[in-house]
Amino acid sequence: MRLASRVDRIEPFYVMEVAKRASALLKSPMCDPAQGGRRMIFLNIGEPDRTACERVQAAAHRAIEGGHTAYTPATGLPALRQAISRWYEQRFKVDVDPGRIIITAGASAALQLAMLALVEPGDEVICPDPSYPCNRHFVTAAGGQAKLVATSAEQRYALTAQQLREHWGPAVCGTLLASPSNPTGTSIDPLELAALVETGRALGGWTVVDEIYLGLSYDARYGQTALALGEDIISVNSFSKYFGLTGWRLGWLVVPSDTVAAVERLAQHLYICASTVAQRAALACFEPESLREYEQRRGEFQRRRDYIVPALREIGWPVPVEPDGAFYAWMHTGDIAADSSALCLQLMHQAQVTLTPGRDFGPALARDHVRLSFASSLHDLQEAVARMATADRGLLRQPWTSA
Ligand SMILES: Cc1ncc(COP(=O)(O)O)c(C=O)c1O
Repeated sequence: MRLASRVDRIEPFYVMEVAKRASALLKSPMCDPAQGGRRMIFLNIGEPDRTACERVQAAAHRAIEGGHTAYTPATGLPALRQAISRWYEQRFKVDVDPGRIIITAGASAALQLAMLALVEPGDEVICPDPSYPCNRHFVTAAGGQAKLVATSAEQRYALTAQQLREHWGPAVCGTLLASPSNPTGTSIDPLELAALVETGRALGGWTVVDEIYLGLSYDARYGQTALALGEDIISVNSFSKYFGLTGWRLGWLVVPSDTVAAVERLAQHLYICASTVAQRAALACFEPESLREYEQRRGEFQRRRDYIVPALREIGWPVPVEPDGAFYAWMHTGDIAADSSALCLQLMHQAQVTLTPGRDFGPALARDHVRLSFASSLHDLQEAVARMATADRGLLRQPWTSA
């Protein structure tokens, strides 16, 4: 069958390949404690280790039992849009009109809507390197092309306004940022973000900020929404990470008022509405008891960060910049092995610890960086560190040969 050429422009998602290999090893003696092996510790997964809190689960049951499962408006349940607007007001002190909030099937659908609404075929969109790979593929799927701009530890892996000016060109239509970022867990400095937005405006472009990890921020300096910078900012968010609803597929998009009708048309035709059960359940996320629990969970992630970053540095797996949000530590592994993909496979076989090589996140730092997710329990993190500390450095350095 002849497939559309856009399919060829979408790269494989190597993270998934690593996960598949690790799962395949699970049945081997190496991962079977009954046969003298050790269980695999998965620190490659970008997913909280806990599901929705109980009140949210109960609300989902009530929605199903009460038959409240019909389509909602394409923009989402009005009560949920209002609840999100109140959350912005209470937590971030930012006034966001509920009418600008569009409920989507995860941040993924929000990004897809945004790119379909903003990108013409042939357009370029500036994205930092490293960044979450799917984001640039939403640009590709809309017919555009991501223009990756390499960043460094010195700039906290964030794009600068100066870089934006230098890399802007006639085909560029906007900038797609994430703060905090996956894979680095670092946020854009608020002053730099303001300068990026201002520069983008002056050049006639838009700014979309993926704020999916904003709820999981550990530093008041960075934990601010870009929406405070003006009504023209487009923000992507989700119930997946902070609220622990990954597989429920629920997120949202905040757009300028004068674009709501156009985005609504796209949503109506592309997917009618996000899951009604998930939307009804998500209303319970904003009850005071639920928010208290989610804040406790945030504290737990922060304690894991406070353990893992110094522990990794101590065993010679340097984390150049301390993450201020999300649950990722981005390690520089150039002094351990030349190729981060081979290193991850060696570690998986030697220590039964699965990490994510830099490859997916852009070419700039791919070969000598590895992402560790600290979304697992403190116990698992401690066990992983002990195994990494004693892994044979000579073997880790070797190129990967066996399949
Ligand atoms: C930066 C970033 N944006 C978007 C997504 C997609 O999330 P969702 O589950 O809300 O679709 C992820 C998922 O890992 C992510 O890390």
